[in-house]
Amino acid sequence: MEKKDIDWGNLGFGYIKTDYRYVSNFKDGKWDDGEITTDDKVVLSECAGVLQYAQTVFEGLKAYTTEDGRIVTFRPDLNAERLNQSAARLEMPTLPDGRFIDAVEKTIKANAAFVPPYGSGATLYVRPYMFGSNPVIGVKPADEYQFRILVTPVGPYFKGGAKPIVIKVSDFDRAAPHGTGNIKAGLNYAMSLHAIVTAHEEGFAENMYLDAATRTKVEETGGANFLFVTKDGKVVTPKSNSILPSITRRSLIQVARDYLGLEAEEREITLEEVADMAECGLCGTAAVISPVGKINDHGKEICFPSGMEEMGPVTKKLYDTLTGIQMGRIEAPEGWVHEIKL
Ligand code: PLP
Ligand code: COI
Repeated sequence: MEKKDIDWGNLGFGYIKTDYRYVSNFKDGKWDDGEITTDDKVVLSECAGVLQYAQTVFEGLKAYTTEDGRIVTFRPDLNAERLNQSAARLEMPTLPDGRFIDAVEKTIKANAAFVPPYGSGATLYVRPYMFGSNPVIGVKPADEYQFRILVTPVGPYFKGGAKPIVIKVSDFDRAAPHGTGNIKAGLNYAMSLHAIVTAHEEGFAENMYLDAATRTKVEETGGANFLFVTKDGKVVTPKSNSILPSITRRSLIQVARDYLGLEAEEREITLEEVADMAECGLCGTAAVISPVGKINDHGKEICFPSGMEEMGPVTKKLYDTLTGIQMGRIEAPEGWVHEIKL
């Protein structure tokens, strides 16, 4: 199959329209069969639930070309599970068993020419999403929904790729205790936009959000979970009910233990103890592991010993092992790599 003529090596994290997308509608209490379409336009009532009350949830995963030329995705079963959890929390219908993965397979297969070649540094970002589509004016869930999947080839989420970034401790909160921080709802991102624009204007790449109740504990950033390495070489990640359960972070904990023989722990992490960490990174599908060199806490700088030039040594090993598994260079744990058969 001939690949599209795209400058894969110079892609940023942006939207490029591809040839096909998936669409399925929920009406009268059931999902239709779903189909692949070329139509990238969504035509909605002016009063659709998503437009009035932000009833929308989404997912993010990637398709990779392996060293031996196969197209694979990474743990899509966990994205399927999390989409259903997000949908249930916003009173939206869940997808029937098997539907999510079938739809992901069909969409990637149809757009195989857009899956970046092995070694190009780019991947195909897959964005499944669901929204309330019929008119709603009183505050209540919609009765009709649309589930779609779009794909777009992407490069690194942060400019500079593996170069350490500088972030700031935000004065805004991302999620309330018992709120929606643990699901992937559009509303969590809408309310982070002012914070991210402010951070960018001040020269920072991202925000570190603290727990809203006490503002002493590390939560996550706008689009990734944190991962720290302690000075004695232990991998630690924040535990909280108001952060997204990152599939990348959960996988990295297992990689740290089973592939690298490191101790790895999910626990509460205070902002105070961050200054004692040896390495810091942001982990997620889009971010992969993006190293953090410095955190600005209201003018006070927390500088990690790994510096501003390159990833810390443990972060690098985690990065190499995870991407090695994703690209087929390193044998994956059972069920982690899902091949898209063309
Ligand atoms: N946290 C937030 C807020 C995110 O948007 C994402 C991206 O999906 C993550 C964490 C990382 O999650 P995952 O590793 O499942 O992509
Ligand atoms: C992802 O990593 O898939 C996300 O959804 C994060 C987003 C900020 C692009």
